Order: sequence, then C-alpha cells, then structure tokens
Amino acid sequence: MIANFFMPTRLVHGPGALSRIGELARGLGMARPLVVSDPAIAATAFYRDALATLRAAGLDVATFEGCGIDARLAHVDGEAARVRSEGRDGVIAIGGGSVICTAKGIAIVAPNGTTFADMTGVANFRNKALPMIMAPTTAGSGSEVSQFTLVKDEASHRKLVGGGPLSFPDVAILDPVTLATLPPRAAAGSAVDALTHAVEALFSFLATPLTDALALESVRLQAGSMRRSILSDDERARADNLLASSMANMACGNARLGLAHTLSLPLEAILDLPHTIGVGVLIPRVVAFNAPVAPEKARALALALGAAPADDLRGTVAAIRDAFFRLFEDVGTPTAFTQEQLPQARIAEMAAAAIPGLYGGAMPEGEVRDGHVVHQPGVRRATVAEARALYAQCYA
Ligand SMILES: [Fe+2]
Repeated sequence: MIANFFMPTRLVHGPGALSRIGELARGLGMARPLVVSDPAIAATAFYRDALATLRAAGLDVATFEGCGIDARLAHVDGEAARVRSEGRDGVIAIGGGSVICTAKGIAIVAPNGTTFADMTGVANFRNKALPMIMAPTTAGSGSEVSQFTLVKDEASHRKLVGGGPLSFPDVAILDPVTLATLPPRAAAGSAVDALTHAVEALFSFLATPLTDALALESVRLQAGSMRRSILSDDERARADNLLASSMANMACGNARLGLAHTLSLPLEAILDLPHTIGVGVLIPRVVAFNAPVAPEKARALALALGAAPADDLRGTVAAIRDAFFRLFEDVGTPTAFTQEQLPQARIAEMAAAAIPGLYGGAMPEGEVRDGHVVHQPGVRRATVAEARALYAQCYA
C-alpha cells in the first residue's frame, strides 16, 4: 500500500500562544485580514486582546462575529463576497468548530468563485485558499489542522463537505486561555469527540506507524488531562487537551474515521442525536468489535488509556471499556443510549441508513439485506446485521 501523510499546518501551542497572533499574521503576508468569530467568543477578554494585538501589529482588521451552531452557506458565501470587495488578504478564526469551518469556507470561496456549493467534494477548486490562522476555543473538532470544512446549506438542509490539499490552515494557535470560559458540559463533549478521533484512526486499515504514533500519544495525553482540564482550573491540562485534539485530527485526517462515526451519522441526521453523545457511546462497543482482528492495537490502546492490558484479549477489551466508562462518567458524558435517544424499534432503519458511510459509499440496489456491508475504513468489515447488533449493545 502506498500511503500519504499530510500535515502542512504550523502549530504554535502553549500558554500565551495567542499573544503571537499579530506577528504570525504578518508572517503569512496578511495586511487586511477578516477575523471570524461568534457572539459568545466576541464577548471574551482573550478575543478582544487578540484583536488589539493584530491592530498593534499594524493590520487593518475587519470582523464577522455572527457565526451560529453550524457553519452556514449564507455566511460563507456572503463573507467571501465581502473579502473580495474589500480586498481582504487572509482569514483568521477564533472560535469552535463551526467558526473554523466558516472561516475555512470563506478562505476557499474568496479566490475561487461565488458559492461553496460549487466546491464540495475533494479538491474541487483550483486556487489556493487565502492564508488562514485558526485559534480553536474547544478541544474537539480538530478542524484547525484539517483540509476539510463542513458547511450547512439551510435552504436544502444538506451538509456540504469540501476541501483539499489547497485548503489546509497555515497556522493553528493552541492557547489554553481559550478553554477557560468553556462550560464543562461543552468541554466534556468536545474532549470525548477528540478521543474518538484518535481511537478511530488507530483501528483504521489506512493507519500507518505515523498515524498510530499520533493517535496513541493523543489518547495518552487526553486520558491524562481530560478530568483536570474540564473539572478544575488547570492550564497545563487544558494545553495538553488542545494539543491532543489537534494530534487526533492529524491521525484521523490521514487514516480516516471508522465505525463509531459511521454508525453515529444516521443517529445525528435522522434522530437529531448530538455527535459527541453518538460517537462517545459507540466507541467502547466499536473497539470491542475491532479488537479480535487487531489485538496488538487493543493492547496499545489499553496502555495509552492508563489501563492494564490483561493476558487474554477479552480481559484487555474489558479493561478498555471500563477505562472509557470511568472517564466519561467522571466528566459527565453518557456511556449508554436511552430508548428516547435510540428507540429499539428504529435500530434496523439506522443500520440500513449507515451503509453509505462518511466517504460516499453506494447504497445497494433493492432491499437491504443482513449481509450488505457498511462502508467504513475500519480494520474489521461490518455487515448490516453486525451494525444492528452493535446498536443493540449501546443500552445500559
Ligand atoms: Fe467526531
């Protein structure tokens, strides 16, 4: 197998990193950047400080502080038009995943056309995106080191995905000050999502020694810092959390996401289940499913989680599950679905809807049968019948 490993984004991380935003913007040749954020972030002191630093560095800064829960097509296209008309030469995001996705969408559309809807898919645009600096304010999406962006088209209710090697952010600034005001529930959900990104990369058939190294160290950092990062005022733990989230996305950006994200997708799309709950509940069950074909990965994962691997695989899988459950319970995220979240009567429908997966697999013609394969890059092939069994294991 010939493997690719992309990681062109410069990471500037550690306490105080955000104070370098002015020189970093100048270093990328920006003179007139657009800063993208949302109303909650725009009200924080670290955001105001960042704007002041940019202006003190001589930059002519414009702002868009109107992002919402999702990156929206109208925001992306509207701000891209503004960037062109005002001659803006770079995009800076200070915010969570939807802010970063909005900024990346603007940076892609501005030099390439009029609407992101024409640029979906992989590498479906010609010109390099505008220079980008991303300062995440959650440790979860990893979008600050990803070439892709996810934008919601509110008119058609579709989520549009686009990006390619020409749309990697240039710089990611990881400063723990940005996590200090995050509510614990949101912080916990993000951290669980980041943890699943690393674990999914580990159990991918596209995994390489490079992605394994990032994934395992990301899990080790997360497992060691998550409780203190979320439940106490610990700057060091928050810095580890942010770095672990970026590392997890470097791993899954190259090795892709597996069965937990694939099975969570229909729950999110059809049943409106939050992503972080879907992948968090599924991940221990998916690890148990994959472990028999990758026992050495299971052993490494147990160690990274701080659990003692057993002499037999069954014991190691149980140790991993217990470590996940303890961690999730400590930070206050669910370890099982309720009947309201996933009604048992809808499991068959969800398993069938999972077939195309995240990467555009085809639906079978005609009726869905037990033996049809769910498209996903995990080390173990999963059929529709196995997907149903996995969902059924997700109750308390
Ligand atoms: Fe995720």
